[in-house]
Amino acid sequence: MIKNKLCLIFTILAIVFLLSESLNGKVEIRITILYDNYVTPVTGVQADWGFSCLVQGTEKTILFDTGTRSDILQKNIESLKVDLSRINMIVISHLHGDHIGGLQWILSQKRDIPVYLPAMAKDDYLAKVRQWGGLPLRISKARQVCRNVFSTGEMPADFDPAFSEQSLVIKTSHGLLVITGCAHPGILEIVRRAHQVVSGQPRVVLGGFHLMRKDDREIAAIIDAMKTAGVERCGASHCTGDRAIEFFRNAFTGRFLPLGVGTVLTFPR
Ligand SMILES: [Fe+2]
Ligand SMILES: [Fe+2]
Repeated sequence: MIKNKLCLIFTILAIVFLLSESLNGKVEIRITILYDNYVTPVTGVQADWGFSCLVQGTEKTILFDTGTRSDILQKNIESLKVDLSRINMIVISHLHGDHIGGLQWILSQKRDIPVYLPAMAKDDYLAKVRQWGGLPLRISKARQVCRNVFSTGEMPADFDPAFSEQSLVIKTSHGLLVITGCAHPGILEIVRRAHQVVSGQPRVVLGGFHLMRKDDREIAAIIDAMKTAGVERCGASHCTGDRAIEFFRNAFTGRFLPLGVGTVLTFPR
């Protein structure tokens, strides 16, 4: 009898928990593109060179990169009705102006949150972030930033240490979701690193892929290798290059994710 009652109570609690998670939209990962140089048919947002996206539905709400101009970032955030008070942490892919331009303004709106920076960030930049109200942390090796969300760790771009970069890897029930800023270390290398540092297959990759200086043969080879690595869906944007984006669109027919400022993507958690 007591056992039956306990069973019933447990079932009710489980249903209530699942309902509340569902109502909070937490059963899915939701990615909103806040800053991008490509446009979508969303009104009230402005496209500009740079990248930023918001990741919701994970344990912490994460702002990944902050675009170039704080006024445009602010305009897009307001148009997309993003509640800045919900952001729990910021992850910066790399220190180029088109990814860190809005950081000071964001921190003026939401203070005392961790700001994960690639390890190459100098002391004086950390001091600035602290002065702006953030809690800067350098990331060198791959690590978890919150439950089921990881940084690849800082990856070098051989041609210039200033292009060292980290990417975000989210572990979902359907494999890994990888988000890149500019992918200067190489989009394929990032996909492979994601697989090395987090158990699971990389299934979705989105962000800037930085392939504008690759020729057709190189782009095709990268796409083939990404598919072999398990990638099923792709959202190539920002600095990927128009021609390379067309290659991805054709190679991932029906599974290409067109990105632009205002795009909202959801994935099962
Ligand atoms: Fe960029
Ligand atoms: Fe860059």
